[in-house]
Amino acid sequence: MKQITSLNEMVAFVHDTKLKQKSIGFVPTMGYLHEGHRALIKDARKENDIVVLSIFVNPTQFGPNEDFAKYPRDMKRDRDIATAEQVDILFTPTVQEMYPVQPLRVSLQAGKAARELCGASRPGHFDGVLTVLLKLFMLIQPARAYFGMKDAQQVAVVEGMVHEYFLPVTIRKVATVREEDGLARSSRNVRLTSEERKEAPVLYESLQFVRQYYDAHPHLTVDVLEAEWLRFLEEKLRFGSIDYARILSFPELQKPTFKGPQLAALAVRYSAARLIDNLLWEEE
Ligand code: PAJ
Repeated sequence: MKQITSLNEMVAFVHDTKLKQKSIGFVPTMGYLHEGHRALIKDARKENDIVVLSIFVNPTQFGPNEDFAKYPRDMKRDRDIATAEQVDILFTPTVQEMYPVQPLRVSLQAGKAARELCGASRPGHFDGVLTVLLKLFMLIQPARAYFGMKDAQQVAVVEGMVHEYFLPVTIRKVATVREEDGLARSSRNVRLTSEERKEAPVLYESLQFVRQYYDAHPHLTVDVLEAEWLRFLEEKLRFGSIDYARILSFPELQKPTFKGPQLAALAVRYSAARLIDNLLWEEE
């Protein structure tokens, strides 16, 4: 595995790879790699000649009071994982090179789907995600890019950009990887206290509850279903506080008609981490 930090070196590598007519699979991450990231890398490894993994904690997707400075980082461990997963290029650009001009002279604004769920509590977050991804896609020119359904809203917003701006990349979606007790793997899980960690599987339990509740009462309105879900959560949460628990259409992220895919998504705040999870289901 080769680690590349400089943009020029990355551009040269991509140019060379294109000349050799090799396909690039790209896995964008912010590092502190875990089994979820590994699942993305494994799929990329299967489907492409060359795998590029980026690790870049992107400042533009963090709000002023968020955890950019405290976001967990461990480059040595990440390098070992990337090597074990047979990554070809580990791309670790600097903030200075990724954002040479601040503020940006041209900025991207995510549409309607980005204002729901995480977008409501993290204004500007998805604008920052799209900004960094457009830069990375232009640099790396991947045939395929890999995203986890753990961040279903991110997938919806990124696919929107790819379709609307005819970006020559295929977005590949990867199912959420969980701990044995159901908690979705996340780099932020290390920031839970031991009591919070014990409680955290409630997020996934509540998603299964709402799914089962809907199956048992298919004629309920979304509002009633959400209220039942909140009741379930409020009863079980002692340490966490609910940021949102919503049922929306996917990928539009609007109030559902219960025709087509539905997304139940929630976010819960703990003392030093905000956790998200979701379940996507299709109306039979
Ligand atoms: P990060 O949180 O590091 O996640 C990188 C990728 O890993 C995302 O596509 C995310 O959905 C996926 N992922 C995280 N946990 C997962 C899990 N438990 N199962 C499956 N996939 C999982 O998402 C970002 O970084 C950033 O916003 C980024 C896209 C890199 C742009 O900066």
